[in-house]
Amino acid sequence: MPWRSLRWFILVKPGTVPQLRKGICMNRVLAHTGARYPIVQAPMGWIARSPLASAVSRAGGLGVIETSSGETENCQREIRAMVDSGLPFGVNLPIRFLKDEAMLRFVCEVGIRFVTTSAGSPAKFIAPLKAAGIVVYHAVPTVEMALKCVEAGVDGLVVEGGEGGGFKNPEEVSTLVLLQAIREKVDVPLIAAGGIVDGRGMAAAFALGAEAIQMGTRFVASLESPVHAHYKEAIVGAGTTGTWMLNTKSSPCIRALKTEFTQTIYEAGLMGPESFMGIQKVYFGGDMNAAPALAGQSAGLIHQVSSVQDIITQTVEQFQSISRRMGAMAQAADFG
Ligand SMILES: Cc1cc2nc3c(=O)[nH]c(=O)nc-3n(C[C@H](O)[C@H](O)[C@H](O)COP(=O)(O)O)c2cc1C
Repeated sequence: MPWRSLRWFILVKPGTVPQLRKGICMNRVLAHTGARYPIVQAPMGWIARSPLASAVSRAGGLGVIETSSGETENCQREIRAMVDSGLPFGVNLPIRFLKDEAMLRFVCEVGIRFVTTSAGSPAKFIAPLKAAGIVVYHAVPTVEMALKCVEAGVDGLVVEGGEGGGFKNPEEVSTLVLLQAIREKVDVPLIAAGGIVDGRGMAAAFALGAEAIQMGTRFVASLESPVHAHYKEAIVGAGTTGTWMLNTKSSPCIRALKTEFTQTIYEAGLMGPESFMGIQKVYFGGDMNAAPALAGQSAGLIHQVSSVQDIITQTVEQFQSISRRMGAMAQAADFG
């Protein structure tokens, strides 16, 4: 089913009989990104590089390249590889973690269409990015932050619920509540992130006002993900209570898998920056106790490592099947 399609609209003029008219219904996230499906792969330090991002974009989603690893030259090489591939893709700029303006300048010059910003206020980044013709979405964990970002001029928002993996707001609000609360207040397009792994989550997010979904944990446990098999197996083996919110009284607050390593942090209630020193040993060495293994509650919904193509195809098919069922319920005006 094309996502840009003719739809019937009901036009109601005061004092007249409502009329059905055909009009173009455009998904704004697809218009902004150039992707075929409104499915975005989350930015994830070291993991979200060209092998994973290009697999996602080739399958019709939107691959995103990370820069949160702080490896400026490597990330620039990854971005160039994606530009050369001709596939649609995005870049994430985690404002607080950027050492200087080199990455911002590079992104503005290299010919990128879509950027997500995160971790901090996007205010200073919006003018240079927009001057370079780039569409900017900012990742927000609260309604207050969403309002500030819209005021600052972002084109859209990534709405990140507290059940998602990675760096989190300690005052967690679930994706279910946050999406509705933000949709009530703003008109910009929303990408829903946190707790989504398939077409069921996608249909729920769209019902609440999202125009796209972003998945992190699901793509970590994909065949094309570069992480060690132990990490993928740990995600597949985790239940819905298989993660902890850690370091909630300090910064950064994170959601990670329950392991011996994270149990110590959980019991201490605090975590120092040195806790992340071994993150590459987790990702690529498979030592699940070298650092916190970031993952969301959605790990409990992931039952096997799948190819990116299968994840995207099955998500779209399941979304469409649920949408048809809901449409039939609406037409029949019952809940059968
Ligand atoms: C392993 C991992 C690493 C992550 N790293 C980053 C990051 O570097 N920058 C960022 O903005 N978000 C990061 N996130 C958060 C994701 O962008 C996304 O919001 C989250 O994964 C969505 O929830 P889900 O895991 O339930 O899909 C990370 C998430 C995971 C699971």
